[in-house]
Amino acid sequence: MDVHTKANLKMWNRMVPINAKSKMYDVAGFKSGKSSLSPHEIRELRPIVKGKSVLHLQCHFGMDTLSIARLGASKVAGVDFSPVAISLARKLAKQVGLDKRSEFVCSDIYSIPAGFRKKKFDVVYTGGGALFWLKDLERWGRIVSGFLRPGGVLYIKGFHPFSNSFDEEASEPRLRYPYFHRKEPIINKFHGTYSEPGADFESEEHNWSFGMGELVNVLVGAGLTIDYLHEFMTVGYKRFQFLVKGRDDRWGWKDPNAGVPLVFSLRATKQKG
Ligand SMILES: C[S@@+](CC[C@H](N)C(=O)[O-])C[C@H]1O[C@@H](n2cnc3c(N)ncnc32)[C@H](O)[C@@H]1O
Repeated sequence: MDVHTKANLKMWNRMVPINAKSKMYDVAGFKSGKSSLSPHEIRELRPIVKGKSVLHLQCHFGMDTLSIARLGASKVAGVDFSPVAISLARKLAKQVGLDKRSEFVCSDIYSIPAGFRKKKFDVVYTGGGALFWLKDLERWGRIVSGFLRPGGVLYIKGFHPFSNSFDEEASEPRLRYPYFHRKEPIINKFHGTYSEPGADFESEEHNWSFGMGELVNVLVGAGLTIDYLHEFMTVGYKRFQFLVKGRDDRWGWKDPNAGVPLVFSLRATKQKG
């Protein structure tokens, strides 16, 4: 494992317990039946996953994976490199009675065991805040494509790559980070976590920027056809200091006419033959 992945793994292992106790993740609500997916994800995912096998890459501690099972997927599998996250995911699956329909694998995305790599799924899903942890997007595209059966579908819900350029510590929108992909990661130290900004937690994050065009071209290069790319002006939590809370409990721009997308969803299909 390279130094960047090692540093990220150390950070995620420490962050999982904080996220699991946070109001933002609301584990108690999830156990009582609430979905952890956003309303637009539920709308778009339900018809894609009903009766299908779904693989969730970078599944964290499994709430989104298990929420997809609750949308009617026949089987779900989650992969994440954090043993702390995977052990909690397995425990949660048991607690909500979904352990027979779910499987959780602890692995770095770039070294998934060969036995599991042979499996094929109808749907691959990846959620918010996942893609900028990936050092090699092209290789990731090939991994995704390898898991899909012909005609299978990739669904991504993610932070809009343009919004990843904003300074999260500024009180007014200000660009801080590169937009296009660079080989070298952006290394940052933060106090607190996204789920608990006031937590006594020092993080060191190694992220990689990427542009929307780069992502789309990676998928096309991996043999997928883009079905849609939707852009949204709100995000589920106060990701930037300058965002304001709307009536729907989501965070967006003071003046939506002067904003840019904060979240996107993309659906792509693996070509047959
Ligand atoms: C922000 S979380 C994904 C969040 C998910 N949408 C949620 O909120 O539950 C990002 C996840 O990526 C995982 N991750 C980061 N780099 C990884 C890698 N190289 N291989 C596998 N998992 C990785 C982390 O352990 C973490 O659980």
